[in-house]
Amino acid sequence: MKIAQFKVEEWMNKYEASAKYDLTSTCISPLSINELPFEDSIFQKKLTYGDIEGSLRLKNAIKNLYTNQEENNITVTHGAIGANQLVFLSLLEKGDEVVSIVPTYQQHYSIPESLGCNVKLYFLKEENNWLPDIEELNKIITPKTKLLCLNNPNNPTGSVIPNNMLFEIVKIAEKNNIWILSDEVYRGLNLYGSPYSESIADIYEKGISVGSMSKTYSLPGLRVGWIAGRVDLINEINHQRQYNTISISILDDYFSAIALENKEIIEKRNFEILRNGEKVLRNWLAKQNQFSCILPKGGTTVLVKYNFNISSKEFCKNLQKATGAALLPGETMEMEGFVRLGYCSDNLEIALDKISDYTNKQYHIS
Ligand SMILES: Cc1ncc(COP(=O)(O)O)c(C=O)c1O
Repeated sequence: MKIAQFKVEEWMNKYEASAKYDLTSTCISPLSINELPFEDSIFQKKLTYGDIEGSLRLKNAIKNLYTNQEENNITVTHGAIGANQLVFLSLLEKGDEVVSIVPTYQQHYSIPESLGCNVKLYFLKEENNWLPDIEELNKIITPKTKLLCLNNPNNPTGSVIPNNMLFEIVKIAEKNNIWILSDEVYRGLNLYGSPYSESIADIYEKGISVGSMSKTYSLPGLRVGWIAGRVDLINEINHQRQYNTISISILDDYFSAIALENKEIIEKRNFEILRNGEKVLRNWLAKQNQFSCILPKGGTTVLVKYNFNISSKEFCKNLQKATGAALLPGETMEMEGFVRLGYCSDNLEIALDKISDYTNKQYHIS
């Protein structure tokens, strides 16, 4: 199967490790095992394959993140990246029509394209606060569409689809009898109102929700994700999964269950980082005339627009070389003219000052 280069991953592999101030990351400072209330008995556990489809303990902890799911509606995967891929492989065939809301995680259009699907990209607009326009979505989705892909809260824009708009999207999907894949790896990180938006699997029969330990629960090193959806689809996914996963690591399964059972502690810590990051970003932006952005409503990133004339890749390369501060070029997410900024990053304030000191000198407008 031929597939396009995964542009964000390519860039991060090349530049992230050498950054002095890494603002490319989408994770909230990851936790260590010591910070989890684990039981010593874990050290006596034999390292077998474990429960093939994920332990009941873990599935039960995942189920509690939803209002309408049971253990048999859930399957556990190698991260959300494994979850998304399994959904596409299980659901799509050559010639199927897929609508993907962009900017988003590249899997959501490049995998369907690689499977020979007809992929229509629907671009979010800054003037709509990076939210979909329901009228436009209603036009682009037709009975020929099989799957709509969205990411809520959204990476990179930091927008959160309000629940009433989610119900409007569900109405369009119902009318056209299509599936919705909602990548919800940042669900639980809303800055306003309830931290958790409605999950698509809870509100729509053909809604498929993907979740993960990586972002909301600050444990990307566990490599655990999951899919919640209709039982017949989950059975189909488990059939595909046998060729791709066997099981997740028994250790990852255990620590994920412990983390989810104690998620309030993680959430409290994360929200302190999130709110502080948002404040630092807001104060910095108020002093800038070369940068602007729609402030985040949730998730861990924003798309920042710059007003000087250079490609986003050149800008990020030059910036990192001169200051050690790493941003992600918008071009890697089909958003030239912007950069993605992870506002939960360590040393955010220092890094932002380094960035504006550099651009004020380099791109000074008299
Ligand atoms: C929207 C989105 N989906 C999926 C992933 C992959 O997450 P995981 O670490 O759980 O595989 C990411 C990672 O950045 C992401 O931003």
